Amino acid sequence: MKRDVLVCADPAELATAASSILVEAARSAQAERGVFSLALAGGSTPLETYRGLSKHALDWARTQLFFGDERVVPPDDPASNFGSARRHLLDPAGVPASSVFPIPTEGASADACARTYEGTLRARLIEPPKIDLVLLGLGEDGHTASLFPGSLALETKTRWVVAAPPGRLPPDVERITLTLPVLNAARRVLFLVQGAAKAEVLREVLEPVPGRTTLPAARVQPVDGDVLWLVDRAAAEGLTERTSRRQWAG
Ligand code: 6PG
Repeated sequence: MKRDVLVCADPAELATAASSILVEAARSAQAERGVFSLALAGGSTPLETYRGLSKHALDWARTQLFFGDERVVPPDDPASNFGSARRHLLDPAGVPASSVFPIPTEGASADACARTYEGTLRARLIEPPKIDLVLLGLGEDGHTASLFPGSLALETKTRWVVAAPPGRLPPDVERITLTLPVLNAARRVLFLVQGAAKAEVLREVLEPVPGRTTLPAARVQPVDGDVLWLVDRAAAEGLTERTSRRQWAG
């Protein structure tokens, strides 16, 4: 696994950098394999990136858009990751519905919805599921997707999608999340981390202290893929010389 850390001046530059990385990844995947598979991250950090991406002329018909996790709420609920992606990317970019694979949240149970989504992934991705690019965020407790510290969801070796209880951080609703076997099969993982509030946890993830429990985000280590941490200066403030990093050069 190759790891890179790129530092941007601020959230606006981070969104510009992330959009161009995504466009480049899409074009090369579509040229090499005819289709680009992308798992979108939830939360607020990626929203400016989604707005920027919607302005690029991407071949959305040759794209498969999955979701890294979802809150178990209706799609029109403000907490819905799908709803946020629809408002900031899917609708503005005119992404055809046939290219979008939302996580179902209105089935019999969260577990049933997770199993349905796993079937959706297994019908479209080979084993191991080499998603071209998985976008992820970082929670202040070190979670990513909806893989929270101490969660049983972290331990599955076979399931691709599982239900998870609410984490410590809001919103206090059940979740459905991709698991480490899927995240670690990705060709590339792109973490987007911004803001001073993430400085401490980013250092803990990138500069782990021996003997401390490994945080969920630190367990994302694609076997045959690379991880790019795209962070802004405020989030990078806590990093030491242990973390080699370079400035985003545009
Ligand atoms: C979610 C996300 C979650 C998010 C982090 C960071 O559903 O909440 O998938 O993993 O990426 O909590 O969230 P912010 O970007 O809002 O800080």
